[in-house]
Amino acid sequence: MPIFNKKTDSKPMELPTHIAIIMDGNGRWAKKRGLPRTAGHKVGAEAFRTIANYAKSIGLKYLTVYAFSTENWKRSQEEVNTIMELLEKYLRELLRDMDKNRVRFCFFGDLSRLSPTLRAEAEETAERSKQYDGVQVNFCLNYGGRDEILRAARSFAAKCAAGEARPEELTDEVFSGLLYSAGVPDPDLIIRPSGEERISNFLLWQSAYAEYYFTDTLWPDFGPRDLDLAIEAYNKRSRRFGGVK
Ligand code: FPP
Repeated sequence: MPIFNKKTDSKPMELPTHIAIIMDGNGRWAKKRGLPRTAGHKVGAEAFRTIANYAKSIGLKYLTVYAFSTENWKRSQEEVNTIMELLEKYLRELLRDMDKNRVRFCFFGDLSRLSPTLRAEAEETAERSKQYDGVQVNFCLNYGGRDEILRAARSFAAKCAAGEARPEELTDEVFSGLLYSAGVPDPDLIIRPSGEERISNFLLWQSAYAEYYFTDTLWPDFGPRDLDLAIEAYNKRSRRFGGVK
């Protein structure tokens, strides 16, 4: 039974609408075991599979995960290749099992730098899974918050230059609609495992009023119980969105 269903002080736990996760700590998990970093990514991919299924089972509406950032290309060619191969394999399996899993997938990020195979798999996964209305997983691939904001700013500037929009028409809502996350509510809760406490270019615009949850658990060890603990901590926060309660 998920922890958020338990009653605390006669008040039921509230499930956030949107949880975002920085899947961090794969390399350290492997190092602690004397394994290559790539072994940590393999187990990290399984941890993601488990969390996505759990998110669906508890009725979460949106789960956004940071799988590969615009800065992760700086890693060794071997590590980047392994992550890309893992992603290709993962998406192939997703496509194969799509009717069983029934999870809607969206991809946030610049897919143009990915291999044609990976890009095609991502596009097919997004297209074919549109029909499902359970949890929506937003998979951030070659994603950077600053890059996302710059793209949105450029696209609005281009509209202005073409005479299709005026600068004063740019509102919070219009700008949000130009981001990869258009139509997705802002994250309520952002989780970063592995003991690091920074945002690392993740959802910079969307995280304006997100609650953060940090844990020392490394991503490959992160399981449903850890997600429950994060939701429990979220329930103790007082969200004021700049107002007074
Ligand atoms: C962060 O750990 C992890 C990444 C940059 C890659 C994330 C990739 C996965 C979870 C595997 C691919 C996912 C799927 C679903 C196929 P780190 O390498 O920065 O760890 P460290 O901080 O301990 O070095």
